[in-house]
Amino acid sequence: MGSQLLRCKNIDQLIADAEDPEKRLKKTLGWVSLTALGIGAIIGSGIFVLTGTAAAGEYFQAPSILHAQVLDLAVNFLRGGSTASVLMHGRPPAGPSIAISFVLVAIACGFAGLCYAELASMIPIAGSAYTYSYATLGEIFAWIIGWDLILEYVVSNVAVAISFSAYTKAQLLSFGIPLPDRWSTPVWESGHWTGSYFNIPGFLIIFVLTVLLVRGIRESAKANNVMVAVKIGAILLFLLIGGMLVHPANWKPFAPSGFGGIVTGGAIVFFTYIGFDSVSTAAEEAKNPQRDLPIGIILSLIVCTILYVGVSIVLLGMMRYTTFVSGDAAEAPVAYALHTLGASHFAQTVIIVGALMGMISSLLVFQYGQARIWYAMSRDCLFPKLFARIHPKYKTPHMSTWVAGFAVGIPAGIFAVSDVADLSNIGTLFAFVLVSLGVIILRRKQPERPRGFRVPFVPLFPIIAIVLCGGLMTGLTVITWIRFLLWLALGLVIYYLYSRKRSTLRGENT
Ligand code: ALA
Repeated sequence: MGSQLLRCKNIDQLIADAEDPEKRLKKTLGWVSLTALGIGAIIGSGIFVLTGTAAAGEYFQAPSILHAQVLDLAVNFLRGGSTASVLMHGRPPAGPSIAISFVLVAIACGFAGLCYAELASMIPIAGSAYTYSYATLGEIFAWIIGWDLILEYVVSNVAVAISFSAYTKAQLLSFGIPLPDRWSTPVWESGHWTGSYFNIPGFLIIFVLTVLLVRGIRESAKANNVMVAVKIGAILLFLLIGGMLVHPANWKPFAPSGFGGIVTGGAIVFFTYIGFDSVSTAAEEAKNPQRDLPIGIILSLIVCTILYVGVSIVLLGMMRYTTFVSGDAAEAPVAYALHTLGASHFAQTVIIVGALMGMISSLLVFQYGQARIWYAMSRDCLFPKLFARIHPKYKTPHMSTWVAGFAVGIPAGIFAVSDVADLSNIGTLFAFVLVSLGVIILRRKQPERPRGFRVPFVPLFPIIAIVLCGGLMTGLTVITWIRFLLWLALGLVIYYLYSRKRSTLRGENT
């Protein structure tokens, strides 16, 4: 039984397949393209949405332990043996100190990113942590990582689609086209029905992208570069226009909840960095992975951190952080601040349309990636074989693309961004912890295997990654942990009842 759970794919076979000239990918990417790839995946909707809510905190009318931070609970329990004095039920506001959260999160991501790069370069196969953990750690780990990655990809795209809807709504309104609230806002928010029927723009954007992906339209490096330029342009313009509308008094108090607020804020804005791991998945196509992968990861993180810190300082200088606690200000803070403070209509439009294009490109990359995970897991028979079908005409994995489309589109029509972004964060942070652990284990298990890139100072660096990512996980609320554990439990039930018996490695001697 144990050996069955730990059965591995044969790495040499995987590598031999990849060396096959028919299947080998071209090694064309240098550090500039890798950095652009990282920035393209990282900047989505998070910076335009979560900066406001993370700074403002979240308040629930009925106090509940479910909405307390795990960190806050643990500290109170250790100090007084009870959780009665938990600071607050909800999230303490980070205020303008959210800028510090951005820097801390970037550091945590940097360490985890190096670990990702080592695993990706060790098994030079295009694919994500799922494939390489299957080849190295065993089937059960691969399953957990694959299942967790689905959570990351599904839920983060649900969040981006919801934000897309909020910004589209705000933009159409500024053109004098109001969308009816009942068909353009979340149905369920912070534990309550809102009276809305369905968030159609959130569903529709995913539906359209799914049709495009089924037909085989994917981002090329050139298109990606254009998208990256548009996103960065929109942010720089915001810094310029918003910078002129700043009132320095809004920066005080700088850190209304002290270090606790900075950690909680960090756990929320971690979302804005999700996607940088995509740099490591291009290991097979990098010209010089040993040098260029870490440069691509670190540089894309540095560029995004500078932009994110800039946006947060400007936004929270434009309006007091408490403004962003609910309503339009929470859903689309950048648009709200520009509109309320009377920025020119032209500038507002350019910034918001730029932001929307950035969101679309991020949605596209994530939908593409998610479909490949469903596909890879189905090809290995961990999911029904049906999902691994290839379209006869377009040669794309159309069934898994549709599965990915509905898995994201339907929740995007129902939930609110604050309810889903946290779940995506915990899933991704957990994947980072597993990947960092994987680096330490594999250095022991397979020290001889060549690695295109090696993390320096092992096990210190992976341990730092584990501690920092684990620390951010404690900044999330109890309800987020419960939802996450339920997701993992559901995954294990499916694995035991279905996947384990059907796996393509069944019966192989491992
Ligand atoms: N990092 C991506 C975003 O900010 C998911 O939207």
